[in-house]
Amino acid sequence: MVSGLRPLRADDGQLLILDQTQLPYAEEWRWIATLDDAARAIRDMQVRGAPLIGITAAFGLALALRVQASDAALAAAAAALAATRPTAVNLRWALARMQARLAPLPPSMRADAAWDEAQFLAAEDAAANRAIGEHGLALLRPLAERRGTLRVMTHCNAGWLATGGYGTALAPVYAAHAAGIAVHVYASETRPRNQGLLTAWELARGDVPHTLIADNAAGHLMRAGKVDVAIVGADRIAANGDVANKIGTYLKALAAREAGIPFYVAAPRSTIDRDCPSGEAIPIEERDGEELRLVRGAFAYARVAERRTRVANPAFDVTPAALVGAIVTERGAVPPGELAGLFDPARRDG
Ligand code: MRU
Repeated sequence: MVSGLRPLRADDGQLLILDQTQLPYAEEWRWIATLDDAARAIRDMQVRGAPLIGITAAFGLALALRVQASDAALAAAAAALAATRPTAVNLRWALARMQARLAPLPPSMRADAAWDEAQFLAAEDAAANRAIGEHGLALLRPLAERRGTLRVMTHCNAGWLATGGYGTALAPVYAAHAAGIAVHVYASETRPRNQGLLTAWELARGDVPHTLIADNAAGHLMRAGKVDVAIVGADRIAANGDVANKIGTYLKALAAREAGIPFYVAAPRSTIDRDCPSGEAIPIEERDGEELRLVRGAFAYARVAERRTRVANPAFDVTPAALVGAIVTERGAVPPGELAGLFDPARRDG
């Protein structure tokens, strides 16, 4: 297991993040000291991945309250953080939870309480990751028993880099690896931000065998019988089970369906947006066209498209529930049509 590896450290009241824009070329850590630092880190994707974005926002709110903790300041800081990225619902979920905890407190108590709550939120996410790993492993085990080595395809990065713990899509992979199951991961790139590189970097650190592939190689490999199962993360899951995830996920789901390969989504319940009826209502982030016109190398960017080239750069797509075999959460794996069963109003934790 990859215990001890964290993309964010919050010790002694200070916040340090691993700058993911520098990976896999350099491992650089940055201090986050203010609300603006936190907002910038999220917007510029120094931190990324739905759960980690939520956790960073929670700490960002705590930092803001050290400066001003009035009702107005709390609302303004939450609004500034919420505006950083639109698709990952964990951001809004974390901020709503922080506000619900902090608003009833007198302003003088808010900053410390906010820091504690952010720490708690991070620990809770790590625990959810661990449970997702176990529930996902139960799905992988029977597939592994039929083969010598289980070949798993994933997309983007949904590992420890993207969360408070072990990852979402990669948690079952780490659990299988730790259980002695032979796994081989196809880490699919995600043009334009090339986040398969992050997965390859992360898997290498965990000694998990893997192969990096271009986004467009996925269909070919599935059709050629080289993949046993596909597991991806999610940035927002609508109430009907439609899944928003990194752009290119939908094509993988289509290819998996065509090739008869199980396609699973792994995410904590904080990624399920019960107020969002279907994928059509999920806001899809459109990012700067320069991300596509430039290609990042180890030390520099290279221009591959003229600045005047018109670009569409949607960062996410929606995979319809019908293409998803199961959604793996900390409360178990369910078909996408049965998400409501994951929530219990009688429980304190919902
Ligand atoms: O744009 P990003 O990197 O913040 O995208 C989010 C993701 O990392 C992926 O879509 C991931 O599969 C889901 S979040 C664990």
